[in-house]
Amino acid sequence: MYTQLEQRGMLQPPVNVATLRKMKADGEPIACLTAYDASYAVLVDAAGADLVLVGDSLGMVIQGHDTTVPVTVDDIIYHSKAVARGLRRPFLVADMPFMSYTEPGQALDNAVRLMQEGGAMMIKLEGGDGQLEIVEHLARHDIPVCAHIGLKPQSVHKIGGFRVQGREPEKAKAMIESAKRLQDAGADIVLLECIPNEAGEAITSALDVPVIGIGAGPHVDGQILVLYDVLDITQGRTPRFVQNFQKEHTSPLDALAAYVKAVKDRSYPAPEHCFS
Ligand code: KIV
Repeated sequence: MYTQLEQRGMLQPPVNVATLRKMKADGEPIACLTAYDASYAVLVDAAGADLVLVGDSLGMVIQGHDTTVPVTVDDIIYHSKAVARGLRRPFLVADMPFMSYTEPGQALDNAVRLMQEGGAMMIKLEGGDGQLEIVEHLARHDIPVCAHIGLKPQSVHKIGGFRVQGREPEKAKAMIESAKRLQDAGADIVLLECIPNEAGEAITSALDVPVIGIGAGPHVDGQILVLYDVLDITQGRTPRFVQNFQKEHTSPLDALAAYVKAVKDRSYPAPEHCFS
């Protein structure tokens, strides 16, 4: 029974939390991407990504909203189901959308839906100390959790824009302490968005669990980017940490494979993608 997944004719076994922890221990960078449908999920898998996130960024890149705030649990489930059908090897994480985890019971109900209906293997939620009780409650029920700190796009209206977080030494220190508390509460991955390199490095060395960065510098355990940014589908001004991998490739698969290779050989992110 336990070997079923590995018998599906795969060259490599599926990635799980233990694989990700081992990659951190071995110093092997974890290559992550978002995906929102089955066709791209197949490409992201073929390109060699280790982890795929059905992010609430779908509110912006798929639904055309200005923020991720309008995204619902049903939206994430719809896209996660499609992505799950396209994936074989990567670890599938799904986002808990805005206000879907305000209380432990509500968070557990929604996390269960993302896993049972959406096929997710882990859920991601935005939050620091305010979400410790939620993370603890989910972890107590064996729900794998990724805690997203730094820039939290669901808080955009509270912050007043998509801005780099933790530039001030006392704020960076508070973020490091908060990351440790999230790990102690049971988070299996910590994701850092838009913070200075130094904070990314300090958090990565302080934690035992894998730390994935987006605009968090080169000294983290893995990198993630929004698929449509990597493929240059996103129009207008993209954040500093984005690299267009489609520019030098003719097919989307080649561009995605180039991204994975650049994460693995640490040529991405380069200094021009970082905040310090
Ligand atoms: O929603 C999303 O795609 C994300 C990534 C930017 C990490 O949270």
